[in-house]
Amino acid sequence: MSHKRVAILISGGGSNMVALLDSMIGDHPARPCLVLSSEPEAAGLDKAAARGVPVAAVDHRPFRADRAAFEAELMKPLIAARPDIVCCAGFMRILTGDFVSRWQGRMLNIHPSLLPKYKGLNTHARALAAGDGEHGCSVHEVTAELDDGPILGQARVPVLNGDTPETLAARVLVQEHRLYPAVLRRFAMGDRTPIHWG
Ligand code: GAR
Repeated sequence: MSHKRVAILISGGGSNMVALLDSMIGDHPARPCLVLSSEPEAAGLDKAAARGVPVAAVDHRPFRADRAAFEAELMKPLIAARPDIVCCAGFMRILTGDFVSRWQGRMLNIHPSLLPKYKGLNTHARALAAGDGEHGCSVHEVTAELDDGPILGQARVPVLNGDTPETLAARVLVQEHRLYPAVLRRFAMGDRTPIHWG
């Protein structure tokens, strides 16, 4: 069996990336081919390198508002790695429709809310401010619309009395680390049936 090749895009600590990397062993249908960061100092790069995964970084700062130029640089190592699947895992740059269309149908993202609620940033604070009784995370296919695209999995957690954005984020993150590997495994086998937990 030839494994599907998976590239992972990160910007920070990369705990979801680590969960994905550590899942791609044994009978898993995929293997990592690249971890690519928009931040040269991202802690996740060391964690990937320590696991023997090729890493690269393209600093977004010199490009300022020129998203197309940034994405042209980002595209080089990504294309060279020949991924079958691209997973965004805490990748905090907004991608243009041009970039996304190159990978459409094989690009996934994890977002810390029960989409379509709370697209964008500060999702945990917004769920608390709304008085929601439950919150969670979503894995979805990436389309040109931000935090949109078909849902491939959702995991729910309760919002508890006294929660802060930090305590709620930590509870959601535990589920992110379970959900994303589960969705990737299915997706790599060609199964897009959504997972619903909780
Ligand atoms: C995760 O909670 C992820 O869902 C979120 O950033 C965090 C990254 O943590 N992603 C987004 O907000 C995307 N807009 P990690 O680097 O430890 O995986």
